[in-house]
Amino acid sequence: MDHELEIGYVGLEVADPAGLGALLTDVVGLVPAGAAFGAAAYRNDDRAARVFIEEGPADDCTLLGFIASDAATFDAVAARLDSAGFPLTEGTAGEAATRGVGRLAHGTTPWVPRFELALDQAAAVPFESPLVPGGFQTDGVGFGHAVFAVLDFADTERFLLDGLGMVQSDWIEAELMEGVPLEVRFYHCNRRHHSVAVAKVPFDIGKALHHVQFETNRRDDVGRAFDRAWDAGLRFANGIGVHDNEGAFSFYVASAAGFLVEVGHGTRVITAPWTDNRRYDRISRWGHQPIPLRP
Ligand SMILES: [Fe+2]
Repeated sequence: MDHELEIGYVGLEVADPAGLGALLTDVVGLVPAGAAFGAAAYRNDDRAARVFIEEGPADDCTLLGFIASDAATFDAVAARLDSAGFPLTEGTAGEAATRGVGRLAHGTTPWVPRFELALDQAAAVPFESPLVPGGFQTDGVGFGHAVFAVLDFADTERFLLDGLGMVQSDWIEAELMEGVPLEVRFYHCNRRHHSVAVAKVPFDIGKALHHVQFETNRRDDVGRAFDRAWDAGLRFANGIGVHDNEGAFSFYVASAAGFLVEVGHGTRVITAPWTDNRRYDRISRWGHQPIPLRP
């Protein structure tokens, strides 16, 4: 499927950068991106950097970066964002270098304080993780996905649909807990079922990021990551399960910052034209049970 955009990178501001870095490397299997970056940076493929971690009080996602497929697309997406009410400012060469991209423009989103549209995400040395021998699924689809909680869909969709030009894949209407409705909408910009999803929550939960996801090429690598999280004594938010709409086999581990990290495999692929934008009434086909804290 031809595409204009990939989700290129996220920035996470947390009180404990070393702890989150250890979760990403020792459990999920990312590798450090190298000393060239101002913030601690990690990657899950041969692109320069996929996750930037900075120390701070937010314990949230503070940066969302998308990569345009070429210069003409970069300009077209920037113009579309401007028309939707989200103007971008051209970044400096120095700013671009800190992200490992050739060019970037920055603005804001209704729910993440900084947005960057970038071009030419430089390739680093080939990705090799001893923990994830099969590697991560990123080719043409970005690093993974991010799911956010918002109070309202309107502004968010103006950014994602009108601005970025993403398309809704499907949605879930279920109960967050008894009597508390939950609606999650999933958006794609390439073959990946969703690069961004947004959950409408009935009250402010104090942070935008619900979870960030990394998708392995091999199903066994999800299980091995689960074992590593178990051995590290981490808190599982949800055990192994399969999502109903996207079909991914995955689990969720909680970071100290409060947001979750999901490791998954086997997400269904978007085909063009997409004709299966429909409602689901449950998050999971099976599994994903909350796992009680171990004594
Ligand atoms: Fe997810």
